[in-house]
Amino acid sequence: MVKICCIGAGYVGGPTMAVIAVKCPEIEVAVVDISVSRIQAWNSEVLPIYEPGLDEVVKQCRGKNLFFSTDVERHVAEADIVFVSVNTPTKTRGLGAGKAADLTYWESAARMIADVSKSDKIVVEKSTVPVKTAEAIERILTHNSKGIKYQILSNPEFLAEGTAILDLFNPDRVLIGGRETSDGQKAVEALKSVYAHWVPEDKILCTNLWSAELSKLAANAFLAQRISSVNAMSALCEATGADVAQVAHAVGTDSRIGPKFLTASVGFGGSCFQKDILNLVYICECNGLVEVAGYWKQVIKVNDYQKSRFVNRVVSSMFNTVAGKKVAILGFAFKKDTGDTRETAAIDVCKGLIGDKAHLRIYDPQVSEEQIQRDLAMDKFEWDHPAHLQPAAAGADKQVSVVGDAYEAAKGAHAVCVLTEWGEFKGLDYRRIYEGMQKPAFVFDGRNVVDVEKLREIGFIVYSIGKPLDPWLKDMPAVA
Ligand code: NAD
Ligand code: UDX
Repeated sequence: MVKICCIGAGYVGGPTMAVIAVKCPEIEVAVVDISVSRIQAWNSEVLPIYEPGLDEVVKQCRGKNLFFSTDVERHVAEADIVFVSVNTPTKTRGLGAGKAADLTYWESAARMIADVSKSDKIVVEKSTVPVKTAEAIERILTHNSKGIKYQILSNPEFLAEGTAILDLFNPDRVLIGGRETSDGQKAVEALKSVYAHWVPEDKILCTNLWSAELSKLAANAFLAQRISSVNAMSALCEATGADVAQVAHAVGTDSRIGPKFLTASVGFGGSCFQKDILNLVYICECNGLVEVAGYWKQVIKVNDYQKSRFVNRVVSSMFNTVAGKKVAILGFAFKKDTGDTRETAAIDVCKGLIGDKAHLRIYDPQVSEEQIQRDLAMDKFEWDHPAHLQPAAAGADKQVSVVGDAYEAAKGAHAVCVLTEWGEFKGLDYRRIYEGMQKPAFVFDGRNVVDVEKLREIGFIVYSIGKPLDPWLKDMPAVA
């Protein structure tokens, strides 16, 4: 029986290993983590992450061939294949701070593998890492090897949150990079045979190590670049009377461009895009490629611009001040169908409004009050460290309260901001919401989920990203 161990029971490690376990009943899969609370949650009825379809998959194989444990060393020692899926945050201090990937967690995992191993192992980079990381990992492993042979593979993960199970069941491709030696190729074949249980062979791409590592950063940069492109267009649409949804549709029907990932928004969030592009920028700079670095940096700049443009729009529309005004925030997660708030645009928008002294009442169907308060208290780049290393949420901020539904959030408010595209926000009774609000009542839709015409008929002043402006907003001073 092949034994797999995955270090890191997070958004990637948990779902990925659950799918391997369910598709490969003869393989024993152990997912290990240093976070006791995370492992307890994986072994409980309430999993530590919300992901559609995940509960069913875990229930099918947990306790049979899927195990969650804090006994990291034992499971690593027993495994033939060790996946490493720990977090790789942006460095907050020292050389490369604010850009380079912090490989502290990865390095400590590698040192532990070297310490406890008693048999040959395939070590798989599942985390997103800078290109050439495998070389450093190889050195750590072989330096302490006691004659044990290691093969390092790069097998980056392309799942998106909210659709992780679908993505894992039916991936566009699985990418495996390995050394071009005969032992390296044997290791590639061994990992390939795991995925071949359910992924067609032509979708399993095999490359050299560096191509696999770099492809992950490149794919995220390309995806984020499309969003910044359409968001840049949304600003021009507002200035000219074009409608960004119509422009995106017209552009996306060109088969060379394609329709996906062209939805204008208040800005992309999530744990990957910004972190991985900053990492790419840093690698380009280290290689003397200043223009290339500048090109990718612009994707982040446009994203930051989009978030501050949204805040400016809210403030300028409401007579240039939101001080003391009540603003309902609908949605805090970085996208629908997840409770994840890492790098969500809502953090920057809320901080911007709090900075202007607004009083926020926040509702999200999947995000807890504790998480929201912690996010709003946290410094940039601190979010991607394990929860047990994070500061406790600072006491509830007077300016922020978290409530149990959208109607409560909007009661008595001067404005409603939609920041996550949860389906339930489309079907709200906006007439009821209007009646309970202060007048003039504003809706600022950062996700283009509301029916603009219907809301204007009710009496709202509506701003929707990239849509022709409400006459009210046109008369307001131009926003930066
Ligand atoms: P996460 O923070 O949810 O999970 C990482 C886990 O690793 C944490 O639970 C942490 O406690 C654990 N950990 C850290 N150091 C450890 C150690 N030495 N031993 C044991 N456990 C340790 O992170 P994630 O979202 O699952 O991301 C993991 C990696 O996958 C990152 O490199 C990320 O860039 C990449 N990735 C993430 C996504 C995504 O959608 N979240 C998608 C593709 C790739
Ligand atoms: C992303 C990549 O899609 C995935 O392949 C990679 O493995 C991890 O990073 P994720 O961050 O989970 O996945 O979600 P994704 O669907 O890519 O959305 C990222 C952000 O972009 C969200 O805030 C989303 O709302 C936003 N987005 C996405 C847009 O604003 N417009 C779009 O058209 C698509």
